[in-house]
Amino acid sequence: MTDPKTPNALSFQVDRAAIAPIGDQIHASLRQAIVEGRLAPGQRLPSGRDLAAQLGVARGTIRVAYDRLIAENLVFGAGPAGTRVCTRPPARQEDDEAPLDGPLAAFTRPYSSAPLPFQMGVPADDAFPAKLWARMRARAVRADAMTYTAYADPRGEPALRTQIASHLAISRHMQCHPDQIIVTSGYRQGLMLALTALRPHGRKAWIEEPGYPLGRRALELTGAALEPVPVDAEGLRVEEGIVRAPDALLALVTPGQHAPLGVTLSPARRHALLDWAVASKAWIIEDDYLGELQLDGRAAPALAVGKAAERVIHIGSFSKTLSPALGLGFVVAPRLLAERLVEVAAVLAPAPNRTTQLAVTEFLADGHFLRHLRQMKTLYAERRNLALAHVGKFLSGPLTAGLGVIAPLPQSADDSAIVDIARTHGLAPSALSAWYLRRTHAQRGLLLSVTNLRPENIDDACAKLASVVASH
Ligand SMILES: Cc1ncc(COP(=O)(O)O)c(C=O)c1O
Repeated sequence: MTDPKTPNALSFQVDRAAIAPIGDQIHASLRQAIVEGRLAPGQRLPSGRDLAAQLGVARGTIRVAYDRLIAENLVFGAGPAGTRVCTRPPARQEDDEAPLDGPLAAFTRPYSSAPLPFQMGVPADDAFPAKLWARMRARAVRADAMTYTAYADPRGEPALRTQIASHLAISRHMQCHPDQIIVTSGYRQGLMLALTALRPHGRKAWIEEPGYPLGRRALELTGAALEPVPVDAEGLRVEEGIVRAPDALLALVTPGQHAPLGVTLSPARRHALLDWAVASKAWIIEDDYLGELQLDGRAAPALAVGKAAERVIHIGSFSKTLSPALGLGFVVAPRLLAERLVEVAAVLAPAPNRTTQLAVTEFLADGHFLRHLRQMKTLYAERRNLALAHVGKFLSGPLTAGLGVIAPLPQSADDSAIVDIARTHGLAPSALSAWYLRRTHAQRGLLLSVTNLRPENIDDACAKLASVVASH
């Protein structure tokens, strides 16, 4: 996008369909222009107002991008003389060693730090049974050290697969044999196994609209043609998917609790989806990331139940139910695909670290997992009620959704900009619009996980968020 007032060095566009938030894109483009020398030392950056108008974004978004550049010593605020490029920006070679700040920055930034208030996808930091887990892991390390230095079963430890199969029978109503289970490092490895086995390159794939951005990106990386299918109060609008892409190879869905809206696929839609898959020999990839961790009533049975399970690749994860730090999940392979999935696991991505597997086996076998789930349901329901009461004071109509709350915003609001600004205040809400493939159709709103909101931090977190929203 060029403008007579903007140096050519700043000819860049924002991609509203990209996964990376707009603020990150602007920051990355400016940073690149500076380190490549296209913006000379001393040169003045456009005023926040001009650049915001040129790119069609909120001024706050530009301000956050400039603040990040200031923090990186690439530019400095020169008062009335504007924001200018530092005279000695870091040499290019140093920049080559700087951390990557491309589209993945949005996923990598919060890694390995304590969860921030409202951060999605992380369980309660204060409720993980750390001491018990440390004991079980220590026992597992000793047991593992005593075994042969041989290759392990690429599908995972037989004892763990047996435990997972019995747990799924109780909690998800699934009847599967341990041989159908492949242990993975989490949902993402499970998805990788499924997509490598299905080879969706050039084929159509239904995705939920809105839907989990990483799932969507995984399909893009494997060359699938994405077919966004809207989600309403009954879940995926299967009949629309059938009209738009009846010949799709697969549907990637979160039927138990839709991510991020939290709705459960209604029985009618569930049957329609399974009937379509059976009739057209399509595959359903069931992302069961929350498993039975449902806060209201009992979780609906998995899709991979009964006869239709032949068309369903069920992927589970311990990331939400226990901790993402474990790096553990599993795939339940439909019988028709089991051999191919096991082959992919054996050749490309065998089950992870045996000690974690042995420790989780004991955790399941001794009943700690079921107890932990029960406690987490109670805790999260309390935290959700607390959050609803607080958030309702400054945002209208917050709704419950999975382990969080959605606060809808007017269509004129720039939820991504609010999220960027909130981040500078130590908060991590997510922008609802970023979960849409078609950004022009996107609903605006804030996704607020409640897992790490406590009576001690909720007042402060909500006061800060309220002021960010008000200033926007
Ligand atoms: C919709 C959805 N699926 C799956 C996952 C879990 O992924 P993993 O097991 O790779 O940590 C998440 C985590 O945020 C998620 O939101």
